[in-house]
Amino acid sequence: FKTIDDLDMDGKVVLTRVDVNVPVEDGRVTDATRIEKIVPTIKAIQARGGIPVLLAHFDRPKGKRVDAMSLKQIVPALEAALGQPVVFADDCIGGPAKRVVAGLKPGDVALLENTRFHEGEEKNDPTFAASIAALGGVYINDAFSAAHRAHGSTEGLARLLPSGAGRLMEAELKALDAALGTPQRPVMAVVGGAKVSTKLDLLMNLVDRVDHLVIGGGMANTFLVAKGIEVGKSLAERDMADTARQILEKADQGGCVIHLPLDIVVAREFRAGAESQVLPADQCPADAMILDAGPATVDALHDAMAGCKTLIWNGPLGAFEIEPFDRATNAAARAAAGLTRDGKLISVAGGGDTVAALNKAGVAGDFTFISTAGGAFLEWMEGKELPGVAALKDARHH
Ligand code: 3PG
Repeated sequence: FKTIDDLDMDGKVVLTRVDVNVPVEDGRVTDATRIEKIVPTIKAIQARGGIPVLLAHFDRPKGKRVDAMSLKQIVPALEAALGQPVVFADDCIGGPAKRVVAGLKPGDVALLENTRFHEGEEKNDPTFAASIAALGGVYINDAFSAAHRAHGSTEGLARLLPSGAGRLMEAELKALDAALGTPQRPVMAVVGGAKVSTKLDLLMNLVDRVDHLVIGGGMANTFLVAKGIEVGKSLAERDMADTARQILEKADQGGCVIHLPLDIVVAREFRAGAESQVLPADQCPADAMILDAGPATVDALHDAMAGCKTLIWNGPLGAFEIEPFDRATNAAARAAAGLTRDGKLISVAGGGDTVAALNKAGVAGDFTFISTAGGAFLEWMEGKELPGVAALKDARHH
């Protein structure tokens, strides 16, 4: 696909799809990471003489105008990140958008209102996409984290205008390719989270592609059940035990080593500071629940990780949001950060919970790459083609 450097944009309005779907409380942005990450793209477009007009969704208004989901709320955070004023248009098509765009000069930046206020966005209606396309001469997609949606502003527009990837999109694709596309081996994947059922496709894809698969969080309990181990009152999907067994068999045949907890941290209550105990993985008391992996598991994980060249991480190893059940996640995160700092490991992580856990452990900055994507990161780890990325690749003929 093309990038900002390949397209002629001098003096042109560059319709730039970004993902600024950030957490907002009482009308204020509480985490501006996604906003900060699009700044290099906006500056690069300006440096090539283009006038960036930003397109984005916010939340899920389902095709209707919902004031609480207006992108106007993110304008102050965007202005702070860019260090310049941002012109806001209170619709992404029609008169308001045309008027704002017509008044722009080189050096300006505009943001158009939530694309999901129109039904045509999620339906990927060609008429809707054409109304947006009419506003500009070039399309840049910088929203990797929305690329799993085949929507008008993520997919449709790439079919209508000369198109290319923004800097963040380029960086995400490069990092993900380094982690799972053409990685340096051995590769380890760490997958945690509550449920096997939501990560089934992901696990099935990973056992074919990685050398070591570490399974943590509530999901690990389901795997213990599959191995005939009692897990007491732990969260576990007993009806997924057969599926878990199939994953174990597939891994075994393909030479992927699966790492399950060797020891566990159990408690009778799920609350901060609850009394807890470390036990061998097959000794969970009937009235207790597994809330974290134990220190022997972390040691084994560290040893295996030290023998790997690439790490891809999605999902915490335990109930990391409540102490003391954050220990395995923190220890594994620190191990990965240390190996990365020493130049021995390429480490890539993604998904909302994962990034929160790495931030909490204070090591996110040491990872080689932290994706801004949640759902898109998962779909990509499942081996699916993301429509927003596919459309950019097809757009070569423009
Ligand atoms: C995200 O926050 O993961 C993206 O912005 C996509 O949002 P969506 O799940 O509402 O499509």
